[in-house]
Amino acid sequence: MQEIRIERTKTPKTKPTDQSKLGFGKIFTDHMYIMEYSTEKGWHDPAVVPYQSISLEPSAMVFHYGQEMFEGLKAYKTEDGRILLFRPNKNIERANNSNRRLCIPPVPEDDFLNAIKTIVSVDRDWIPTAPGTSLYIRPFIIATDPFLGVRPSNTYKFIIILSPSGAYYESGLDPVKIWIEDDYVRAVRGGIGEAKTGGNYVASLAAQVKAHDEGYSQVLWLDGVERKYIEEVGAMNIFFKINGKVVTPMLTGSILPGVTRASCIDLCKHWGMDVEERRISVDELVEAARTGALEECWGSGTAAVISPVGALRYENDVMTIADGGIGPVSQKLYDTVTGIQTGKVVDELGWTVEVK
Ligand code: COI
Repeated sequence: MQEIRIERTKTPKTKPTDQSKLGFGKIFTDHMYIMEYSTEKGWHDPAVVPYQSISLEPSAMVFHYGQEMFEGLKAYKTEDGRILLFRPNKNIERANNSNRRLCIPPVPEDDFLNAIKTIVSVDRDWIPTAPGTSLYIRPFIIATDPFLGVRPSNTYKFIIILSPSGAYYESGLDPVKIWIEDDYVRAVRGGIGEAKTGGNYVASLAAQVKAHDEGYSQVLWLDGVERKYIEEVGAMNIFFKINGKVVTPMLTGSILPGVTRASCIDLCKHWGMDVEERRISVDELVEAARTGALEECWGSGTAAVISPVGALRYENDVMTIADGGIGPVSQKLYDTVTGIQTGKVVDELGWTVEVK
């Protein structure tokens, strides 16, 4: 494992005083982690340095062809002062899967985890403690060759920034309204839908703007071929409770394999519930809503945690779910996941990793 050079800021910023107004991803801490890659040297010179602008040539490949990968995970401070990460190895594994798909050199897993632990430890005083808050960790890699031909870059920067954050949605745990999109598509099998990369998010913007204009906070994507099967929401994976069973779209290659998604599946199975990962057609959903079999719906994601869905709109139908409120499974998952993350619920499944 490589040793990380640490250069501390001489001009620390003022920390936010009102943790109820953090919002999501707006404030950044005093430091960042940075490591360089070249084909000759591999990943080298890891350092924690003061948070600062980076200088890139306008020809840097990331600006033109989008060769980049990002991740998202969180750190929490427990009541007894410990710092916990939630399943960081799952994010590291997914990051390297994204890297392989995007022709970015993988980062050795021990260096990746050490980088996260080190930057979080240096900026430990920035971890908020108010309910619903955490330190959001954003690792990302960008292609930096100054070159306009289309090929994988030979140089990269791996950076980690930290943002003390509150709820992703302004509504907090209040149920969100979701628009089922049947015109635009996000991803197709064989494409980059299962990689965590900016291209998937820019592909979502036009539909998101359309949904916002109609009063919906997010878009639920259908498969890109038949526009028939439910995929994901973009900022989160999606779950339904239909006739007593928990159902979520199977990972087909165009869906992001969410860490919170995996945790919901594991917890529901641990509680003895029936869980099905399978294809779910939008027609099945509309019919389940019509007959009352659709009992609950929620989204899962690192930023969104567990986000109950109160209404789904498909074409001209609006399906109201759980009377527009928070269903019992969504609430139990939210309480358990956030409880484990913050050290309030016993971590029976061994998911948390302590930062010393
Ligand atoms: C996350 O949940 O960490 C994500 O990366 C989703 C992002 C759109 C905020």
